[in-house]
Amino acid sequence: MVLNFAHRGSLTEAPENTVAAMKKAIAHGAQGIELDVQLTKDDQLILIHDHHVRRFNKAVKGNVRDYTLAELKRIDIGSSFSEKFAHERLATLEEVLEIIPKEIQLNIEIKNAPIMYENIEVILLACLRHRERTENTIISSFDHQTLVQIQQEEPNIMIGLLLKQQIIKPWQYAQNSCLNVYSIHPDKIHVNQEFIIKCHEAGYKVFPYTVNDIATYEQLSSWGIDGVFSNNPAIFSDR
Ligand code: G3P
Ligand code: CA
Repeated sequence: MVLNFAHRGSLTEAPENTVAAMKKAIAHGAQGIELDVQLTKDDQLILIHDHHVRRFNKAVKGNVRDYTLAELKRIDIGSSFSEKFAHERLATLEEVLEIIPKEIQLNIEIKNAPIMYENIEVILLACLRHRERTENTIISSFDHQTLVQIQQEEPNIMIGLLLKQQIIKPWQYAQNSCLNVYSIHPDKIHVNQEFIIKCHEAGYKVFPYTVNDIATYEQLSSWGIDGVFSNNPAIFSDR
């Protein structure tokens, strides 16, 4: 079975990483949901991919980190997607954890570069414990040092090794890291059958990003992929 993760919620159907995007993903039966977290000026966990808000609202200057949660909550981030979402606001992690059923596998990506958030690991784990969501949740990041800190704080949590570049033998890198890696998350263009076989032999699942067409999905499936991140996982739901 290939696990279909809705990427940033279901981002083709609603503004990414919002409550609306999560609701869309849940409504069409996503088995997994991926989302990105960062910290506001007052250290609140907020869902957003970029370090700034201007892709959603050109009037907003500076970075997410420059604003408190209350200030960010006043910004319309939905109109640029569609007038239908004019009231949509950035979501806190607490808000989405409240609506995402525990059966859905979560992948929380810590966006910790180029802006680094001191203490984000402790703040994130406190939130997950509070919501009883340390199980069935993978924590991933391109910043592998942040994953080391996550593991130190919560040794049993699932760790997803997120890869940007094509590194040599990622399965060996994972084995040589001090991380207890659950899954490797490569760019789909770096994946071939050997990649998947080697990762499986080393005991890791492989979840490539971002797979949005059926031909790529079918090829990865035939190679034994474990799951994919997709901007609209509904297109694979009958496969
Ligand atoms: O976690 C997979 C994928 O989301 C990583 O890339 O840039 O979409 O966050 P990005
Ligand atoms: Ca992401």
